[in-house]
Amino acid sequence: MDKKIAVLVGSLRKESFNRKIANELIRLAPKTLKMEMVEIGNLPLYNEDLDINPPKEWTDFREIIQNSDAILFVSPEYNRTIPGGLKNAIDVGSRPPGKSVWKGKSGAVVTVSPGATGGLGSNHNIRQAVVFLDIPMMQQPEAYIGKVHELLREDGKTVIEKTETFLRDYMLAFEKWVNLF
Ligand code: FNR
Repeated sequence: MDKKIAVLVGSLRKESFNRKIANELIRLAPKTLKMEMVEIGNLPLYNEDLDINPPKEWTDFREIIQNSDAILFVSPEYNRTIPGGLKNAIDVGSRPPGKSVWKGKSGAVVTVSPGATGGLGSNHNIRQAVVFLDIPMMQQPEAYIGKVHELLREDGKTVIEKTETFLRDYMLAFEKWVNLF
């Protein structure tokens, strides 16, 4: 059965390596996964006071997540943890109390960095936050994409063959994972 997958990218910059890898994950995903990139850069910073009359950006975002079956996080590491923009999106989706749109979704996380450690700290901090929000996260395979600049072809957009194989296999595992729920 087809599944709707929301893809959240933790970087807001235009030439983001993470966005490039997210686009490749979308390209390489099995056809039963209906992948949709969901933008998070326009979300006002979470403030509990605003939930009395929430901004349209929040309600639109919450609706998109609510209508998805699963979430794929693709993120850099900022100062060894989750980039603020992505944490904000996680927080926005988690509120108001009892109305979290994350509940009932499954998920996976891919972290990407030009550094050697592939965003390990961010990867595990994203897991920590969303496990609390009741998103069962795929455990294997893990995806810490380090030295990402060495994995792109000359077009600067697509990945080299061994990375393509890894990302395709990752998405096949993710398809199996989301079909468990
Ligand atoms: C970074 N970067 C970074 N890299 C890393 O591997 N571990 C880290 O802790 C950090 N910390 C960090 C903090 C801040 C504020 C910035 C802006 C950057 C470098 C980061 O991996 C690099 O800029 C990536 O290119 C960011 O991902 P995108 O934007 O290319 O997707």
